[in-house]
Amino acid sequence: MQTPSIPVIAIDGPTASGKGTVAHRVALQLGFHYLDSGALYRLTALSAIRHQVLLTDEHALAKLAEKLPCRFSGDQVWLANENVTSAIRAEEVGNTASKIAALPTVRHALVGLQLGFRMPPGLVADGRDMGTVIFPHATLKVFLTASVEARAERRYKQLIDKGFSANMQDLLKDLRERDARDSNRAIAPLKPAEGAHILDTSHMTADEAVEQVLRWYAAVKKHA
Ligand code: C5P
Repeated sequence: MQTPSIPVIAIDGPTASGKGTVAHRVALQLGFHYLDSGALYRLTALSAIRHQVLLTDEHALAKLAEKLPCRFSGDQVWLANENVTSAIRAEEVGNTASKIAALPTVRHALVGLQLGFRMPPGLVADGRDMGTVIFPHATLKVFLTASVEARAERRYKQLIDKGFSANMQDLLKDLRERDARDSNRAIAPLKPAEGAHILDTSHMTADEAVEQVLRWYAAVKKHA
C-alpha cells in the first residue's frame, strides 16, 4: 500500500533512547497519528508468553502476530479485552519481543498492521526499521540514539516510576544484549536509514530533541 501524499516521520533508534517520548510529542504537536511499532512486537511477545508458545515455534508466533487482537486508544494499549499498557513494558516482555523480532515470519506478519497507521493528516512512527523497511520513502527520517549509560539510567527511572523493581547492572547488561541482538540480526537490523538525521540525546532533554525534530520537519516541508 503506497500512500506517498500522507507525510511520515520515521524515528528509529535503540531501546530506551527516548524515541518513544520524542515521537509521541512530535505527533501531538503536529496533530499526527502515532505508531509505536515496538508495542506490536511486545504485544506479540506477551501473547506468546500467555499462550505458552515456544520461542522456537516460528509458525505459531507468526500466526499470533498476524491475528493480534490489539487496540490503541490514546496512550492505552489493549490485547483482546485486557488493558496491557503496563504489562507490555515489563523487561521480560521486552526481552522476549527482541528475540521474536529476529524472526522473518513474525516481522512479515506485522507489516500490514504498521502500514495501516499511515492516515491523514500524517504519521509519526517509531521503531527500529521505520525508515529502512516499513516507510522507506518517509518524509523525514531520524535516528535517535544515546549512550548505553544514559539509556540505562532513563530505563531505571521509568521502571521505578511504574512500580517495577530494577537493578542498574542488570539493565546495562540487558540493554547491551538487546542492542547486539537488534543490530546484528539478519533481517531489518537496527541501523540508520539512508538519509536519516542522527540525533544523539545523551545530553539533551526530551523537549530539546522534540524541537530539533520539528525544525528538521519544517525544513523538509519548506523544500518539498
Ligand atoms: O522499542 P521497544 O523496546 O518497545 O521494542 C521492543 C523490541 O521490539 C525491540 O527490542 C526490538 O527488538 C523489537 N522491534 C523491532 N522493530 C521495530 C520495533 C521494535 O524489531 N520496528
